[in-house]
Amino acid sequence: MRFKMLVLATIASSVLATAQAGEFKKPEDAIHYRQAVFEVLGHNFADIGAMVKGKKPFDKTAVVYRAENIAVLAKLPLEGFIDGTETGHTEARATLWKNKADFESKLSDMQQNTLKLLSAAKSGDESQVKQAFAMTAKSCKACHDVYKKD
Ligand code: HEC
Repeated sequence: MRFKMLVLATIASSVLATAQAGEFKKPEDAIHYRQAVFEVLGHNFADIGAMVKGKKPFDKTAVVYRAENIAVLAKLPLEGFIDGTETGHTEARATLWKNKADFESKLSDMQQNTLKLLSAAKSGDESQVKQAFAMTAKSCKACHDVYKKD
């Protein structure tokens, strides 16, 4: 009987732990998830960067493809910034969790800019893409300056 209670208590506490950590089994999984999203986001963003900086030819189809990826990816990182992931193998500053509303508003600014980047991409107008790229890059930096370690 006592054993059965212990088993039940263990199950209950692991269910709670899972609920707290959202979809993730371990805090490290959430950290890895957000880092992976940012890495893929960065890769796609850098390719548009190379085009607007003249390091490779401007190609409308490629820019639209990248901008579509970016607009989707921009929505994903928040899910990985759950409580209990302030420490460990992360470059996020712990202040992020004390200013979650500000962090989310900076993330939302970036998301808005990625939508503008997507419509600029679809217009095919290089100078519009250049401008939207610069605005988006500014919103990446605005958050990194405060919430990401160098
Ligand atoms: C609202 C805040 C915020 C915005 C906006 C933001 N980032 Fe980040 N970024 C972070 C944080 C925090 C980390 C550190 C994540 C960690 O290590 O847990 C990070 C990490 C990264 C990394 C490193 C990923 C790795 O390999 O570990 C890259 C690359 C990156 N961001 C690119 C971008 C780009 C490109 C943009 C804009 C399009 C952007 N970020 C916008 C907060 C932000």
